[in-house]
Amino acid sequence: MKTPWTASDIPSQQGRRVLITGANSGIGFHTALELARHGAELILPARTLAKADDAAARIRAEVPGATLHTDILDLADQGSVRAFAARTIERFPGPSLDLLINNAGVMAIPTREVTVDGFERQFATNYLGPFALTALLLPSIKPHPGSRIVAVSSNAGKYGKIAFDNLQSERRYSPMFGAYTQSKLADLIFAVELQRRLTAAHSPILSVAAHPGYAVTNLHDSGPGSGNSPMKILLNLLHPLSQDAHHGALPTLFAAVSPTVQPGGYYGPDGFLETKGNPTAAKIVPAAKDQAVAVLLWEQSERLTGVTFASLVRSQVSA
Ligand SMILES: NC(=O)c1ccc[n+]([C@@H]2O[C@H](COP(=O)([O-])OP(=O)(O)OC[C@H]3O[C@@H](n4cnc5c(N)ncnc54)[C@H](OP(=O)(O)O)[C@@H]3O)[C@@H](O)[C@H]2O)c1
Repeated sequence: MKTPWTASDIPSQQGRRVLITGANSGIGFHTALELARHGAELILPARTLAKADDAAARIRAEVPGATLHTDILDLADQGSVRAFAARTIERFPGPSLDLLINNAGVMAIPTREVTVDGFERQFATNYLGPFALTALLLPSIKPHPGSRIVAVSSNAGKYGKIAFDNLQSERRYSPMFGAYTQSKLADLIFAVELQRRLTAAHSPILSVAAHPGYAVTNLHDSGPGSGNSPMKILLNLLHPLSQDAHHGALPTLFAAVSPTVQPGGYYGPDGFLETKGNPTAAKIVPAAKDQAVAVLLWEQSERLTGVTFASLVRSQVSA
């Protein structure tokens, strides 16, 4: 039997600079902690500086001497995404990032919320924010083997559909099997399409995706809430199939550092229904590989955010 991959299999991350979103909580925190333990320098933006500083203090308590940079980023606000990206480029000029981990997310917000940009909050936070952040920071990612962009999707994304006539849930809003699953399918479609475009541009940077299965984190309280909503009842019923946040972080870590990952690959837990277990290759559903949908979604995302992947196009032209 194959030996399960664990955090002790993470190779040295000395000399590597990692930007991870949502590292103040849940899976993101454990991803950051393990990367710091293995020597990575981390950029940890959170919605407030207090949250980012608190996460940094908790990491330093476990990894004294870790090199950590904190900042503010609200992925549901395109202005905040642009400002954060600009500050990051100023603080760390040139190609200086080895890993970008788009981890932050929200789930199943009970009633439709609209962001400052007029987007539905789950689509904005889970997909449009990371899309824009990735585009703005792509020139900052070192063009060398080992550089990766990791999208944290969800196993629930397999139930998603990109509803181009209802992208912002403006016609109908379904918190989980609608807005959330669409946003998480969009994350996976984006990861796969980004790899297609990186390959076409002869870039050595990999785009990969991961899902944590069902990990006990703040996600299930911050969205569905702590009441007796049907979603909360379902999550409670599934609780025996869950794992802790440390184990939930392993697929992300595997996608981020394992030398065995495939370009455009997808990784999740190997247990029953993929809710828990050790990292392994996860199935990419046909909807996530539909290139026509991917191209249309990419175009819509550039139009909605006003951010383009100009650097990718430039390198494609000059290649
Ligand atoms: N837990 C699971 O079972 C599960 C399953 C499938 C997929 N996932 C995915 O895993 C990722 C991490 O979730 P988690 O389970 O670790 O949940 P979590 O503990 O709630 O962490 C989510 C993180 O995202 C941050 N975040 C939320 N909205 C943001 C915004 N507008 N701008 C910037 N950051 C924001 C949160 O910050 P605050 O502390 O400020 O809220 C928090 O740091 C998410 O993408 C989620 O969809 C989780």
